[in-house]
Amino acid sequence: MPTPSLTFAAIGCGSRVRTYTKTAALLPERYQVVAAADPNPERLKMMQALLPPGSLRTFASDRELFAAGKLADIMMLGTQDAYHVQPCIEAMRLGYDVLLEKPIATNFTEVMKLEHEAARLGRRVLVCHVLRYTPFYTLVKSLLDAGAVGEIATVTAIEGVAPFHQAHSFVRGHWGVVEKSSPMIIAKCCHDLDVLSWLIDAKCLQVSSFGSLSHFNAAHAPAGAPLYCVEGCPVADTCIYDAQRYVGDQRPWLQWVFDGGVNATDESVRQWLRTSPWGRCVYHCDNTAVDRQTVNLNFANKVTATLTMTAFDNGRSLEIRGTKAVLLAGSTVNRLANHDIAITDHHTGRTEYHDVKVEEGEFAGHGGGDYGLMNVLDEEWRKPNPADMRSSLQRSVESHAMGFAAEAARLQHTVVDLDDFRREHQSRLIRAE
Ligand SMILES: NC(=O)c1ccc[n+]([C@@H]2O[C@H](COP(=O)([O-])OP(=O)(O)OC[C@H]3O[C@@H](n4cnc5c(N)ncnc54)[C@H](O)[C@@H]3O)[C@@H](O)[C@H]2O)c1
Repeated sequence: MPTPSLTFAAIGCGSRVRTYTKTAALLPERYQVVAAADPNPERLKMMQALLPPGSLRTFASDRELFAAGKLADIMMLGTQDAYHVQPCIEAMRLGYDVLLEKPIATNFTEVMKLEHEAARLGRRVLVCHVLRYTPFYTLVKSLLDAGAVGEIATVTAIEGVAPFHQAHSFVRGHWGVVEKSSPMIIAKCCHDLDVLSWLIDAKCLQVSSFGSLSHFNAAHAPAGAPLYCVEGCPVADTCIYDAQRYVGDQRPWLQWVFDGGVNATDESVRQWLRTSPWGRCVYHCDNTAVDRQTVNLNFANKVTATLTMTAFDNGRSLEIRGTKAVLLAGSTVNRLANHDIAITDHHTGRTEYHDVKVEEGEFAGHGGGDYGLMNVLDEEWRKPNPADMRSSLQRSVESHAMGFAAEAARLQHTVVDLDDFRREHQSRLIRAE
């Protein structure tokens, strides 16, 4: 076996860690995953199946893995949102650098705590903002850097989560109850805020925000809808959220939440839907995540931006208006013009189009970003200053501040000044220590 340049241990062998592990396994000359921890033995077996026989040490929990000492260069951390900070700090204390799934934490005081600890220990942390590694956003960034729109004046971004995705993840699923996970604008949109911060390339000064959970509630439940769709819903044939779609066109979602579900018989999926959270009527859940939210952002270089998160569209769109041209990119322009990016020059009125190619199959996840991240990870790790890594902790803290401040602005009906927000959380951190 060739000598790998970087070795990994992993905590939380869910969909994310397995995705990165799959890519690492395709690049054995550069990466080797040597240890993994998860209380779910099925998930450890799935990890073993991705790697050469006998090459993976497995542990039933992060505690057990930590007790074995430092086993690799990098800890891959893919537990759920509320369990990122503690294992990340513990891994850093043991000497690991960390590949950390987003969000960094579920509140901003904890984000700052992790940032301080990484600085104190001199550890490198890369946050998995996979969009920064997609061919699409990489091209948008290089066009902007080359002056394609002149000086950027305004940016409008839309994140269309898609109705069934909203129902699967943010109503029935892991991120439906904000109090147990993260606010929607962090859970789904920390990537979008991170991209805005990257493209606009300036410090964000102020944030305001509006939004609510207005559709996925009992007030919208069709008459006679039971608590679980399989119990015989009178509108099953016309409801786009009917859980029985997991037996049909929405079956691919099962791979993330029902081990073995993609290949399970229809009958066993129907049985599972009788009691699983994913079998519930979307209008009769315990969800608290918003289904719409807008964020207004003011940046130090005078760029103003808005981000709209909506359950009721599919895909990300960008409109960047500059002194020289307008750049439209993403799902709306794709739908209307069948191109990824359109740049219309103010002076000539001419439009030039750009397209990106994303490889299919294993490489397609998150628009090529899952593969893109792993493909440059070793290069990023060699950068002398950890803060210069493309999605370094230091950069990610900036965009997390924007997101958590947006949530505070939405809840308090106010404009949040980012410097004040940081100071407030800094003093909370000092009080807590
Ligand atoms: N970067 C992205 O684009 C992206 C996309 C989706 C999700 N995420 C984030 O990635 C993280 C993981 O998401 P997922 O969908 O893979 O989650 P998941 O629920 O599929 O996996 C989490 C795993 O952690 C394991 N676990 C729980 N406690 C543990 C412990 N003490 N020790 C070891 N393992 C433990 C669970 O058994 C489970 O297998 C979440 O924070 C999520 O928000 C990121």
